Amino acid sequence: MSNPEPTGPGRVQHQPMTAQYPELPGKVAVITGAARGMGARFAAGLATRGVHVVAGDLDTAAMTATADELNTALAGEPGAGRIKASTVDVTRAEEHTALAQRAMAEFGRLDFWVNNAGIFPFAEVPDITPEQIRATLSVNVEGVLFGAQAAAARMQPGSAIVNMASVSAVRVRKGRAAYCSSKAAVAHLTESLAVELGDQGIRVNAIAPGYIDTEMTRWIQDDAPALAKALDAVPLHRIGSPEEVFGALLFLLSDSARYVTGHSLAVDGGSRHV
Ligand SMILES: NC(=O)c1ccc[n+]([C@@H]2O[C@H](COP(=O)([O-])OP(=O)(O)OC[C@H]3O[C@@H](n4cnc5c(N)ncnc54)[C@H](O)[C@@H]3O)[C@@H](O)[C@H]2O)c1
Repeated sequence: MSNPEPTGPGRVQHQPMTAQYPELPGKVAVITGAARGMGARFAAGLATRGVHVVAGDLDTAAMTATADELNTALAGEPGAGRIKASTVDVTRAEEHTALAQRAMAEFGRLDFWVNNAGIFPFAEVPDITPEQIRATLSVNVEGVLFGAQAAAARMQPGSAIVNMASVSAVRVRKGRAAYCSSKAAVAHLTESLAVELGDQGIRVNAIAPGYIDTEMTRWIQDDAPALAKALDAVPLHRIGSPEEVFGALLFLLSDSARYVTGHSLAVDGGSRHV
């Protein structure tokens, strides 16, 4: 599959990952927030490797369009998985249950669950509204817990859950108190889930990206001075690509990570250290 090539300062060339994971074909994944950005890249990448995907998003029209486009592109690839578009609001526990039931009904098993949906409101502390803080914690934190509950109720030993944390879990910047605290909660929740779900043989890890080239970071990518300042605090001095985060996801879902649980894997160009 081809990826659109980003252009402009701070952007990266999207190069395909070449690592092979022969245990993946035939497995089944649920990915939330998959209409665009990293979630869409994860769905495409897993399906290319033979994993069937139930891809959920609040934005039904965009999710359907993305799944149609990806399925069309995958149709010519032997052994590719199929992508089923679903509507989900991750703040509602019963909608996670419906997503999990859809995976079982369509494909008969559930191996992977990626709690990817997230929101990023920008407001400094005096201006954060009750609605903003509640929405951020509801989508970013409750959404992860509800997803893990729905997944764990149906998963077999050897299954894996991956949550999207952020470098913002460990590094704070002005205007991000709601987001940073929500992602710190995701990192901690990942550890709690790993401890409890280990009894069922389910691994739970997180990915902690830095600046990645998606709509969520468009505001800074389109502001050259702000981007230059942000990249000063990135040792590799560039924004990452969804493909580079997908490499981390593949590893965490794969048998190569079978003794890894409760870990947050940074994919941030080193920015957590600055
Ligand atoms: N882009 C970055 O630089 C970056 C960095 C660190 C962490 N993250 C995290 O990675 C994840 C994916 O980020 P992205 O950049 O691809 O974001 P994005 O904004 O491109 O896509 C997020 C998707 O989540 C969906 N969504 C929002 N609220 C939802 C809800 N209640 N229920 C279901 N779906 C919902 C949106 O419709 C959207 O399609 C998020 O959790 C984000 O916080 C992103």
